[in-house]
Order: sequence, then structure tokens, then C-alpha cells
Amino acid sequence: MSQDLGGSQDIFYARSNTVALPLITRAEGIWMWDDDGNDYIDVSSGPVVSNIGHGNARVAEAMAEQARTMDFAYSRVARHQPNIDLTARISALAGPGYERVCLASGGSEAMEIALKFLRQYVVATGRVEKRRIITLSPSYHGGTIATLAITGDEALDPFLKGFAVKSERIPAPFQYRVPTNHTPSSYRMECADALEAKINEIGPGNVLAFVVEPIGGLATGAQPLHEDYANRVREICTRYGIYLVYDEILCGTGRTGNFLASHAWPDARADIVVLAKGLGSGYAPLAAMLAPAGMVDELAGLTGFNFSHTYNANPITCATGLAVLDEYDRGNLVAAAAERGKSLRRRLQGLAERYPSIGDIRGAGLLMAVELVHNRETKKPFPGNFLPTEVVRKCGLKNGLIIYSRRTANGQYGDWFIVAPPLTITEEECDELILRLDATMGDFEAAAAKQLALEPTG
Ligand SMILES: Cc1ncc(COP(=O)(O)O)c(C=O)c1O
Repeated sequence: MSQDLGGSQDIFYARSNTVALPLITRAEGIWMWDDDGNDYIDVSSGPVVSNIGHGNARVAEAMAEQARTMDFAYSRVARHQPNIDLTARISALAGPGYERVCLASGGSEAMEIALKFLRQYVVATGRVEKRRIITLSPSYHGGTIATLAITGDEALDPFLKGFAVKSERIPAPFQYRVPTNHTPSSYRMECADALEAKINEIGPGNVLAFVVEPIGGLATGAQPLHEDYANRVREICTRYGIYLVYDEILCGTGRTGNFLASHAWPDARADIVVLAKGLGSGYAPLAAMLAPAGMVDELAGLTGFNFSHTYNANPITCATGLAVLDEYDRGNLVAAAAERGKSLRRRLQGLAERYPSIGDIRGAGLLMAVELVHNRETKKPFPGNFLPTEVVRKCGLKNGLIIYSRRTANGQYGDWFIVAPPLTITEEECDELILRLDATMGDFEAAAAKQLALEPTG
């Protein structure tokens, strides 16, 4: 067969500044191996997916067993036990307010289900004007057309114009770079107040929902919301009758040391939560919308929630989800995320003492990001002709690390890479990760010094 047919998925991406990706043939725990036998640590769990680690034989066996026993039963024509068991388990872990669980095959699909559910609910209850959605800029809520439209990335404007209805945007409460007239706390409160101003500008009767990531993922580089901010936006949403939706697609399912990241804020529960990534942990495409029984049951008594996806609650996927949750219990992984997160953060701070290009280390539990800066004092990002995200990724590969790095909006919001290894990582493996990251940062700073020294001045 010709090598030119088909192709790996990365051939669709822009070719500029990219380095060849390793061809991964085997993975176990936090480790991956390429076709030449080189080993790598999966520093970012892919895009923060592989929470229980790779190559888990018990999960693989549960998947095979379900495939052998009953591979498929369509949810519009039949019920099945793995579906019933999985949704009960997720709901119990999520706690009060999330008694109903609608499954999906990925984060974007689950986010669309959440938006569609809320829209159908307000239409069925006679509030048809409620159709506008407010999100943060920057933010990321998915890759489908509707979820791109609510994603806070102004670079998408030419693509969206006349093609999809954009959400209304308010500024994300960044805490590393704040405007000169602000402290981090005054800035986050100003950002929360921007929600109220935006609701009043649009008219509360026209606003359906405020959608926000409790800990930013691939748009802000693990920027957590502060509890004060969460409490304030919860209060604003309640007062104006706006639904608060937490996008926990990336930060949920135990990553931060709580099953839901937002469990850290008891007074700021959302109306709807969306989960994905860690729920299937890479073994199966699994996501979920969590909603209160009151809303779901009320809508079911009116028009019903009208949605349909062929792979919704696929039995093999549900059995995988159950086996993945068993692994969380077996390894006490939610607690491990908190513990290991603290010790890894301490070690990263140790590296920051030696590498001045480390500007910020942020996040919660085992969801962290390291921001790379040209000048730590001024927090100035690297100049446009030096792409730190690509350089650090390349240096990582050379030193046995697979790193997910991003430059958002041309560096406007900084350059960073994600540190979010599988929650199964041991203390010894943390040592090894840091050893390799130390070498990576050494190479990175050498490359930066070389390239930036060649820059024309003036
Ligand atoms: C916060 C957030 N929302 C939504 C999505 C979209 O999820 P998916 O890629 O599974 O469609 C992602 C994926 O990275 C995400 O991080």
C-alpha cells in the first residue's frame, strides 16, 4: 500500500514550525515507546486524557468482555445495564444537583448536548427569547461548529462570520498578567462584574447561559478560577435567571484532587456540568452532561429532550467507563492527584529557581501549566520569531518527554506547556520527569539564547 494514501492525522495541521511526531507503538502507565524503542514520559496525558495511565489490562479485559457479551444496543430501542450502572456511578460521585447523566462520545458533543438541552428547556417552558450565551475570552469549548462559536478565540472570527452565531465574550480572569491598575484580586472581581454588565447589555431575558471552565485548559494554560470569582458569578447567574454551565471536560474527573474541580467551591455549584477526557481516560470516547433531576424530569414531561447520537451510551464505552472508575477507586486516584500535584509543583518551583524563562507555574492538583517568558521581571513573552512552544516540545522529545504546548492568540496570552501526567504517577516517576524536564529546559534556554542572539537589533 502506498505511504501517500490516508496519512496520520497531523498531516492536516499547518506545516510551519512543526517537528516530526514520534510513531508511538506501545504505552504503559506514564510511559510511551516509539518504533525505534525510545521511551518517553507522557507529561500532559495527551491533551489531559489518560488519567488512569496507559495499558491497563483490567480495563482492556472489561472492554473485551463487554464486546463478547453484548456489543451494541441502541438507546432509543433498548436499555442496557452498563448504561444504568455508569450513570448512577457518575451521578453519585458528582453529588446533589447532578442526578441525571446524559452520555456522549466526546467533549464537544457533550457541550452541544448541554446547550441544546438548556435551549429546549427554555423553549418548552415559554422563555423562547433566551438564546444568547456568554463565555470567556480566551476559552475553549470544543471543535464542532457550534462549540467553536462559543469558544473565546478572536482568531476564529473570519471563519465564524456569517457562518455561526458567536457567543458574547467577557475577559477571562487571568491572574499572572493583570492590568497595571489592578491586583490579581481586584482584577478577578472586575472580570466577574463584567458578567453582570454583559447580561444587562444584552437584556437578562435574552441570555440563556454563562459557560466557563473552572480551570482553563488549552486556551489559558491551566488558569484556575478563584473561589471569590466563582461565588460572584454564581450569585449573578442566580439573580438574573441565567444557567451556569461548568465545562469540566478537561479539568473534571479527579484531575484537581476533587471528582469535579468545582467541588472546591461548595457555594458555587453549576446548573449543568460537562465531563469528558478522564472519564474514558483514552480507552473509549466517553463524555457526559450532568443535570438536575428537576429540570430533566420537567422537560421529559413537556416536549422531552430531543437528541440523538448513534453511539450515545454505547455498551462497550459504558463498560469501559465503569472499569476506569474502578481504577480510580483501586488507586485512590483523586486523592493521589492532590498529593502528587503538590509534590510535583514543589519540584517545578525548584526548576524555576534555575531557569529564568519559567515565568509562572499554575493550576490545581495534577493539572498544571508552565508559562515560558522572555523576561521574568516584566513577564514579556518571547518575540514572534521565536516560537517557544515548538522549541520546548522539540527539546522535550530529545530528552524523552512528550509535551503538549500552546501559544494562544499569537502569544497575547503567553506561551506555556501543560504538566498533567497520568494520576497514577509515582514519586520516583515524578523524579524522573523532573530530571528530564531539567535537561529539556537547559536545551530550551540554550536554543533561545542562540536564536535570540542572532536577532537583528533596532
Ligand atoms: C475545556 C474543553 N472543552 C471542550 C473540549 C472539546 O472536547 P473534545 O476534544 O473531546 O471534543 C476540550 C478539548 O480539549 C476542552 O479542553
